[in-house]
Amino acid sequence: GDPRLQAISRAIRVVPDFPKPGIMFQDITTLLLDHKAFKDTVDIFVDRYRDMDISVVAGVEARGFMFGPAIALAIGAKFVPLRKPRKLPGEVISESYVLEYGTDCLEMHVGAVEPGERAIVIDDLVATGGTLSAAIKLLERVGAEVVECACVIGLPEVKDRRRIRGKPLYILVEPRLLDECR
Ligand code: PRP
Ligand code: MG
Repeated sequence: GDPRLQAISRAIRVVPDFPKPGIMFQDITTLLLDHKAFKDTVDIFVDRYRDMDISVVAGVEARGFMFGPAIALAIGAKFVPLRKPRKLPGEVISESYVLEYGTDCLEMHVGAVEPGERAIVIDDLVATGGTLSAAIKLLERVGAEVVECACVIGLPEVKDRRRIRGKPLYILVEPRLLDECR
């Protein structure tokens, strides 16, 4: 495997029982503090997508915003924010998705993506895949082609670890179980 991945994984802090008991929170803010690990993370995605004729990097609020713009700039693509409800000022399309308790929703500006554009979706982490599914639906509704979804961390609960809604899923690392660095 890629020797950079172990250091990337180690730069992710695990916070037990956050935001509630039993959850081992995967905190990518510590990855952002580690210049080498952060740059390696972005570089791995950039190397993967730079020659795939991608014109859209869609990032999922909030943590997809921390990786997506750097990737978009490096591969010469636009960055399209997929935001939580009522944040975008222009005309939007919306997709609701189911959470453990209740539902959430992502919105995208109409006109941000043209029919036929080739897109990737970036987020920090995939758990159930509900968030990425909503992102794919938004892009497909405007006629874009979703080439792949990419996440830094893939939790074991993601049902099909290779595909979401038929689109390829690219995962860098597994979740950390313990914080050995403390
Ligand atoms: C987290 C994470 C992913 C999503 C993954 O975001 O950053 O976006 O959950 O879960 P899923 O695969 O089960 O859909 P969250 O909604 O907690 O918000 P945030 O990124 O704004 O912190
Ligand atoms: Mg998120």
